[in-house]
Order: sequence, then structure tokens, then C-alpha cells
Amino acid sequence: MKTHFHRKDDSQIYAEDVPLSVLAKEFGTPSYIYCLSTIKAQYETLSSTFAEILPKDRQPLLCYACKANSNKAILSALRSWGAGLEIVSGNELVRGVNAGFDPDRIVFTGVGKTDGEIEAALKSGIHQINVESIFEISQINEVAKKLGMVAKVVFRLNPDVSGGGHSKISTGRKRDKFGLSANRVVQAYDIADTLDHIDAVGLSMHIGSQVFEVSAFERAFRKLPELVQTLRGKGHNVSRLDIGGGFPIQYSDESLLDLKAYAEWVRDIIVPLETEIIMEPGRFLVGNAGGLLTRVISVKETDEIDFLITDGAMNDLIRPTLYDAFHGIEAVKHGEPSKTYSVTGPVCESGDMFGHDRKLPDMVAGDLCLIKSAGAYGFCMASNYNSRVLPAEILVYGDKYQLIRPRQTLEDILNAEKVPEWVENL
Ligand code: LLP
Repeated sequence: MKTHFHRKDDSQIYAEDVPLSVLAKEFGTPSYIYCLSTIKAQYETLSSTFAEILPKDRQPLLCYACKANSNKAILSALRSWGAGLEIVSGNELVRGVNAGFDPDRIVFTGVGKTDGEIEAALKSGIHQINVESIFEISQINEVAKKLGMVAKVVFRLNPDVSGGGHSKISTGRKRDKFGLSANRVVQAYDIADTLDHIDAVGLSMHIGSQVFEVSAFERAFRKLPELVQTLRGKGHNVSRLDIGGGFPIQYSDESLLDLKAYAEWVRDIIVPLETEIIMEPGRFLVGNAGGLLTRVISVKETDEIDFLITDGAMNDLIRPTLYDAFHGIEAVKHGEPSKTYSVTGPVCESGDMFGHDRKLPDMVAGDLCLIKSAGAYGFCMASNYNSRVLPAEILVYGDKYQLIRPRQTLEDILNAEKVPEWVENL
């Protein structure tokens, strides 16, 4: 998998044409660094594979799942290359519209949407709302009625297929909270038929994220033709299929989804159903494009383990703690990997750990470390735990670079908090 982080001439690591030490000096650490060329290459890989394998009139609308990384600069870039957007909240809708996405290229997914979020989506002229429960049909109908509109919806099928790199990010098993069983989808269509403000136009599904076992996609796709036939047999309109995201990226040396095989399944199973095709890739577009740049605070030797304590921590990148996720870790400086470290942050939990038993050069306080493949579900899941401020984000493109989100300040945090008078005077 292509990434534009690379080591130049046995010296330090660069992000595209910019040495990481330059970025660390100018913007401080911990900081997220994103290589825009990687995002572009990933987008082009997806779109060109589908251009090659799927018929011209069945090209998918690639709706970027912006929960993966919703920085406005990244949204704007993806929009300019032709992406649509998948959103899961009213706030993501605002972000998308601000970044210039045409609402008719935005799909709204998620298992719980408030009336206010539904109203905003309908008013914006959103492409579709992906419905996940029988309750939601009447909820959306009521909101649309109030607005004098008709809501275009698709129903999310829960295909009862397990996929996803970790149980917490597997979404297509029948005991998961997502989607509707095939029977309930049919029921949902029947109900929609009786409602004046709902126009049911198709189906969606998303089986999970970082889907390793690639045949899981095929198994899930194979659930669609029969259901589509049943629905059409009852006179229902199925003109859109949104087949979700979940494309995996490389965190270590995983063998990856053969995109061509995926595209061939789409060609062989989905295309014959003659619908508009939508996909929702998130991680694949941005994951390998980003790294968390940290600086070593200290090296702590114990009887058992040498800990490398960096200024980045679990609040900046929660994935290792939350999902036992593996992220590659490299010293920015060049050197033979002669030492073994457990790389951690200063947060007061043993779970604050980026990785155990990592081979690195002899490290000293002040050295820089890059935590790799952190462009997806990195910054956007960061928190203020331990009153730590949110890290900065920097976008690099060739030799150009810019701060796209300044480091949060403690004032930002403290100014938002209020002490009631009746607490002051206790
Ligand atoms: N569509 C739906 C309905 C989703 O729920 C998701 C991700 C996506 C698309 C995008 O999936 P992707 O292409 O990125 O795999 N925080 C976790 C991942 C959570 C994914 C949630 N849903 C992690 O860090 O691994």
C-alpha cells in the first residue's frame, strides 16, 4: 500500500518532501501529519479500479465516510476529486455542506437520528437517509410531513455476516445494533408504502470496518439478489444499493483486500440488479495517509521492560487501547534497531500503550517517533483526558504544508467550563 511517508537517504523520515523534524519544530508535538498525495492515490485507486471493471453507467458514487477524518481541508480535497459524503450526524452534514459537497451527493446513516438532524438533512436536499429501524420510518415520515416534503430513504439490511478487524467494529452480525433483518426490510417497505412522506428507493448495508476476511463482502452481497427480487415481486422500488465501506488498510503486513476481486463481485452480483450503486469508504482513503508525530519525553528502564514515554498518548490516538490495534512505530532519526521498547504516553493508565516490544534505535529524550497509519479514526477520536489538549493537524502536499487545525489550548478547555455561583459560595 502506498504511503508518502518515506525515509530519505538513510536520514530522517519525510512526509512527502518535508522532513518531519521541520514540522515538529514549527508546530510542536504531538501532531497529526497527513500526506495529501496518499489520500489522492487511494481515491484514484478506488475510482480507477471501478472504472476498469464496472460498466460506465454503473459507476459507484463514492461517499467518503467522514467519521474517519472530518477535517475541513481533507473534506475539501476529496470533494474536489469528485467524492460524495457519508455522514452520521447533523454536525457532519454542516461540515460537509461547508466543505462544498452537494447535498444530493450526501447520504445520512446511523442507528439513531434526532428529529432535528432529520429535519436539517431533508431541508438540505440530501440524497437519501439510510433507515435502520421500523421506528425510524414513522419518525422520518412525521418530520417530512411537517416540512411538506417526501423523504427518500433506503433500508439498511443486516445480512448476518461477520466482518471487521475487531469485534467492536463488526456491524453486520444479527446481534449487532445495526440494520434490519431481511424479513423486517420487507415489512419496512410495506409500511413505507402506506406513508405519504416516505419514498423507499433501495437498500444499504455495511458489514464492518477493516474487513480482513475479504470473502465476507461476497457473502454479504449474495444476500441482496433474493431480497431485491422479493421486494420487486411485491411491487416495491429498489433503484439504489448502498453497499457500505469497510475496505481495509495496511497496519503491519496484512494481506489486503484484492480490490479487483471486490469490484468483480460488485460486477457479478450487484450490477445485474440494475440499480444506482453507492459505497462508503472511510479508512481506506485516509488511514495510511496520516501519522501521529510524537517526541520522546523520557526513557524509563525497569527490570523487565524499557518504556519509551512520548508526549503523545491514548487521548490522542485511542485505537491501540480500545481495539488492541497495531500501529507501526518508527524513530524519525535513522539508526539500527538495536533496542526493544514499549512505547507509551504519560496518561495514568496501563492501557495507555502504543505498542509493546518495538524494535527501535537507541532512543533518547527529545527524539521524534512516528506512529503510523493513524490518518483514520485518529484525531477524530481524540479526547481531553488528563486535561490534555487536542493535538495539531498538519497537511502536506509535495513541498507545501500547512497547519489545518491548531493545537487546542488549555484556555479553550477552561473557558468552556463554568462554576455555578452556588458552588463558589459553598
Ligand atoms: N459506513 C458506515 C455505515 C459505517 O458505520 C462506517 C464505519 C463506514 C461506512 C466506514 O467504514 P470504513 O470504510 O472506514 O471501514 N473507530 C473504528 C472504526 C469504526 C468504524 C465505524 N463505521 C476504528 O478505529 O477502527
